[in-house]
Amino acid sequence: MVKHSSNVKGYSGLLGSLKKIDIEITRNFKKSAPMEIYAFEPFAVLFDEFIKKYDELRMYEIACELLKSLDEFEKKYGRTSELLKIQSVFEKFKKNYELLREIKKSNAELKKTYDTTIEGWGKALELRDSETEGHSHGVMDFAVKLAKEMGLNDEEIQIISRGALLHDIGKIGIPNAILLKQDALTEDEQKIMNQHPTFGYEMLKEISYLQPAAAAVYSHHERWDGKGYPQSLKGEKIPLSARIVAVANHWDAHLHDRPNQKAWTREKVIKDLQEKSGKMFDPEIVKVFLGKVIDNEG
Ligand SMILES: [Fe+2]
Ligand SMILES: [Fe+2]
Repeated sequence: MVKHSSNVKGYSGLLGSLKKIDIEITRNFKKSAPMEIYAFEPFAVLFDEFIKKYDELRMYEIACELLKSLDEFEKKYGRTSELLKIQSVFEKFKKNYELLREIKKSNAELKKTYDTTIEGWGKALELRDSETEGHSHGVMDFAVKLAKEMGLNDEEIQIISRGALLHDIGKIGIPNAILLKQDALTEDEQKIMNQHPTFGYEMLKEISYLQPAAAAVYSHHERWDGKGYPQSLKGEKIPLSARIVAVANHWDAHLHDRPNQKAWTREKVIKDLQEKSGKMFDPEIVKVFLGKVIDNEG
């Protein structure tokens, strides 16, 4: 039997349509064709199912199935004005969901294009600085694991993932003589090198879909104690995404050979992170990283 939608909560836009359908069924079929309504048993079951599950694709399928049921009903009992009304409600419903499905598909394609573009930039940096090849992806992997362990939502994880992948993108603006120098940098050279977060931020800030990620790029060399760069931000004034990327960056950078520094052992990096917790890094993030991310890595 047709169940009323009084058990449905939320989903205001959709609820409007459901209510309308429910009213139509009640008003037209129950009044004018009390016996024939039993022919709509599958209709009622499906209707009830999509209320409970609220899955877009399933709802689209259900709308199609309902329309098929209505066709059967029409063949059996003829075309009635009540039937036409119900059909038009479900036709609209079906069209809306076809449209929604198209939009979802376009969004997915757009997201893929964005991600491919970002990957391309990452590759461009690695071509210039082959010794740090894999570093951007390494930082991204650890930052995402960390963000997940910290219970961040999908949207926040995506921002952190992009920020991590692009954190050093500003190095594209650093001259080779400094970027690839094997010896320690002079004070002046270090000053130029330290501009890479600003260069990266300048590169990304006008690109709307990358604006949220730009914060992690700009602030990944800030320090918890306020002694970092470029803005000398302190504690929670540093965006969370940047604090996460900072820990992941430190981990990945020290585990691999770099132009002017040999790789450290895993134990040495762990000890270093412990020592710098609360000074260079957010202590809570270091705790989660060492306790859960590294633990899970085995
Ligand atoms: Fe950096
Ligand atoms: Fe880095």
